[in-house]
Amino acid sequence: MADNDVTYAETYQRSIDDPEGFWLEAARGVDWISPPKQALDSSSAPLYRWFSGARLNTCYNALDRHVIAGRADELALIHDSAVTGEVRTFTYAQLLDEVARAAGVLQALGVEKGDRVVIYMPMIPETVISMLACARVGAVHSVVFGGFAASELAARIDDAQPKVVLSASCGVERTRIVEYKPMLDAALEKATHEVSHCVIVQRPQYEAEMGERDFDWEKVMAPGAVQPAGCVAVEATDPLYVLYTSGTTGRPKGIVRDNGGHAVALTWSMANIYGMRTGDVWFTASDVGWVVGHSYIVYAPLFAGLATVLYEGKPVGTPDAGAFWRVIEQHKVAGLFTAPTAIRAIKKEDPNAELLAERDISTLRTLFLAGERLDPDTYTWAHEKLGVPVVDNWWQTETGWPIVANPTGIETFEAKPGSATKPSPGYDVQVLSPDGAVLEPNTEGAVCIKLPLPPGTLPTLWQDDERYVSSYLSAFDGYYLTGDGGYIDEDGYVWIMGRTDDVLNVAGHRLSTGSLEAALAGHPAVAECAVIGVADPLKGQVPRALVVLKSGREFSDAEIEMLVDELRTRVRDEVGALASLSAVDVVQALPKTRSGKILRKTMRQMADGETPQVPGTIEDAGVLDALSGVLGPRDA
Ligand code: COA
Ligand code: AMP
Repeated sequence: MADNDVTYAETYQRSIDDPEGFWLEAARGVDWISPPKQALDSSSAPLYRWFSGARLNTCYNALDRHVIAGRADELALIHDSAVTGEVRTFTYAQLLDEVARAAGVLQALGVEKGDRVVIYMPMIPETVISMLACARVGAVHSVVFGGFAASELAARIDDAQPKVVLSASCGVERTRIVEYKPMLDAALEKATHEVSHCVIVQRPQYEAEMGERDFDWEKVMAPGAVQPAGCVAVEATDPLYVLYTSGTTGRPKGIVRDNGGHAVALTWSMANIYGMRTGDVWFTASDVGWVVGHSYIVYAPLFAGLATVLYEGKPVGTPDAGAFWRVIEQHKVAGLFTAPTAIRAIKKEDPNAELLAERDISTLRTLFLAGERLDPDTYTWAHEKLGVPVVDNWWQTETGWPIVANPTGIETFEAKPGSATKPSPGYDVQVLSPDGAVLEPNTEGAVCIKLPLPPGTLPTLWQDDERYVSSYLSAFDGYYLTGDGGYIDEDGYVWIMGRTDDVLNVAGHRLSTGSLEAALAGHPAVAECAVIGVADPLKGQVPRALVVLKSGREFSDAEIEMLVDELRTRVRDEVGALASLSAVDVVQALPKTRSGKILRKTMRQMADGETPQVPGTIEDAGVLDALSGVLGPRDA
């Protein structure tokens, strides 16, 4: 329990009974230009806002204030690249200097408060510098994960309408160099929105060809070439970033994060959920392109004055399954945060953790896991081998910080493997039946959060309040729909069992069936198609595609094989390699309801070897019989 002996139960209850007092107190952890006089603003309910009227700068809270407080020479950022063998470190003063110059570059390119900047970069320090530079000038960043290909990038550019794109010549993957710049050029060609300028970090592994609108990062950032920028004051309710995430359709959702609520909630979470203290070294092995990277590689650790590790590499193969343990030893890491898939990959390669035995990981206090369900086997292996508490935490891009977790900074509960433990203060989590009744303990239903959501969560979708309401708030009046199914047990532990919609979770990466289907449907031979997420022992889920070909001619086996290859390539080229689509089956028909809805869940249950639930509204049950051979579980 924390020094002041306040229990989780007291803290949680206060956050629900007196959100105003609770969050105004938490807001003292942030440096404000005009401090908040009120916490919750319900004037536009159900669109709630936090700390309306207050002003701050997010970058100031991440960097300047630590320098001013005398911590200029302490480490802020450690870039450890397992793929290039380089380690680059930045103290708070050095990082501030880089960020102020990058902010100056943005201003010189005409970027002003409220303008959007798309960041399409690999795991290099310039990515973190770019994000903080946007925050410094009040611009809204939108980071696009480097594993997404041109079409996905173009869709995000068209929605965010950035003035400038910040990118790099390439990413360095385990087995290959991924050329980002040609992908960016293709996306800009595809997008209807015109971007004025791109700034490109030229990496030695691949030198990108520069066009008329492109600037070389190194040249424009040279000391003397640019006037460093100061912090621009923004409203607490102004957007800090837009991060696109996958829904069920092909059109990504622009999750908006505000400045004030985000700074308050993340600062609070670092101490109370993750139990980290100023000066600790923190290592989140994710990617800045995902919400875990935004919140816990970049913002939260810097708000809290930690040293954050930016790791460019994989859990295995760079060079081996001991890579994380090497990083912990080398940089004296106190907290590791990653996805269960990463631990499963390590366990598969090094089941007896022999590579761990070679390392001194005594600085590690806790392992945090999120991004997908933590299966009990993975929990047990990690707990036994690492000998530290393993904390599962459940949340989503939309919420930006844990909805459910073991609150190690307040009180550590005994873990129940498979449950992410208890609701975080501020989240009133309820499980509802289809008719909206609150369910009894241990009864599975739709996991929802009673409104208002706490600070730091999404206030809306980018320029689309209507879609925000229809996607999240309209299923149950007064509740936010998480899209996950699960239950709460008799001890108040929350058990998340998986998505209730058609969202895929591949290696902790969220993907939409819709965007994969759109890539497949674009092939001239395809009449219709469906993508389902099937269970996979390593990645949790992998996509499987079923396609129906246009009638009119017979295809030979060799032609089908070629077509399947073309379809896989289309998905790689349009969505990205991370989709990991391997199984594509050509079938005669897809099962549908009479109103034409494809029965993806039924097909997924068949593929996973479960008893399929067949709705009475099925149009032709014979289609399912014909699929039973195809949809048998595959060898991994
Ligand atoms: N830029 C470009 N390409 C990328 C990329 C990036 N940032 N990230 C992944 N890719 C590509 C990979 O190169 C790979 O391409 P390939 O098919 O040509 O080899 C493909 O996308 C799939 O990558 P990945 O999902 O990493 O699969 P893998 O088989 O190479 O590795 C794991 C398997 C389990 C090691 C890996 O998925 C992993 O580290 N998972 C942890 C996930 C995680 O941290 N999630 C964040 C949520 S918190
Ligand atoms: P993302 O928005 O990409 O972070 O994905 C969020 C989704 O991942 C959630 O809605 C869940 O389906 C799943 N998820 C994330 N963390 C967990 C967890 N700890 N346990 C179970 N599912 C999780």
